[in-house]
Amino acid sequence: MTDRFDLKGKIALVTGASSGLGKHFAGVLAQAGAKVVLAARRMERLEALAAEIEAKGGEALAVSMDVTKADTIQAALEATIARFGGPADVIINNSGLSREAFFTNMEEDDYDLVMDTNTKGVWLVARTFAGALVTAGKPGSMINIASVAGKRVGYTMSAYCASKAACEHMTRNMAIEMARYGVRVNAIAPGYFETEINDTFLNSDEGEKMRKRIPMRRFGEHEELSGPMLLLASEAGSFMTGATLVVDGGHMWSAL
Ligand SMILES: NC(=O)c1ccc[n+]([C@@H]2O[C@H](COP(=O)([O-])OP(=O)(O)OC[C@H]3O[C@@H](n4cnc5c(N)ncnc54)[C@H](OP(=O)(O)O)[C@@H]3O)[C@@H](O)[C@H]2O)c1
Repeated sequence: MTDRFDLKGKIALVTGASSGLGKHFAGVLAQAGAKVVLAARRMERLEALAAEIEAKGGEALAVSMDVTKADTIQAALEATIARFGGPADVIINNSGLSREAFFTNMEEDDYDLVMDTNTKGVWLVARTFAGALVTAGKPGSMINIASVAGKRVGYTMSAYCASKAACEHMTRNMAIEMARYGVRVNAIAPGYFETEINDTFLNSDEGEKMRKRIPMRRFGEHEELSGPMLLLASEAGSFMTGATLVVDGGHMWSAL
């Protein structure tokens, strides 16, 4: 049964691999046997991670990508094909960021940045990388990193929550369009996991209050996303498409 989780011979792209969850996903996919393509803007971090993965016997390529810029995504696809001989079979759309303010005080540029990165960025990467699978006639699996915030609402989070709700719903649409090509498209909606996106908040008094409202009374460990990620990425999830796996310690259903 565990063979169905194996990714030997597969090529996996991870956007936002320079930090946090993306860095973790890249390590997990490499450990499962995939050749990994590490994408983000901070190349020095990606190079360091690639070296770490190769030191453990894996294969990794660091590519510079800004998910809001289509030309950098196309260049990353070309670099992937040049190094590994084909497009990525597994696409992890993980890059994301947040800007917070009551919506009446939010700058238009901040709203655009959140939407351009978390929603349009997912669409741009999907269009290029899933499109390349269709062109090559290869099956594959794409996983979009949404958020429990896309299912709920939070003060100061109007742009972020909307961007993640859109990311999740777009996943369903992409799933039905890609099914005929053998490309599965699913989402993971994490609850709170400590990374650079939220470490100041989670370590504040407000973060402590939030922790107490989570039914499991704690934030997630990065390792707790590994199983859901591998399930969707591999043959173990071969009949899953258009699904969202919520990994949040019960946060979504915290009681009134
Ligand atoms: N941590 C949580 O509790 C949590 C919960 C739910 C969902 N998420 C989602 O999980 C994903 C990863 O976040 P994280 O928690 O790991 O935060 P993080 O540590 O801040 O990582 C964010 C990553 O996104 C990349 N990124 C941002 N803008 C980009 C752009 N324009 N082009 C390419 N890459 C870009 C960053 O790389 P560069 O700056 O090097 O480009 C970085 O690697 C995000 O989509 C986030 O919304 C996180």
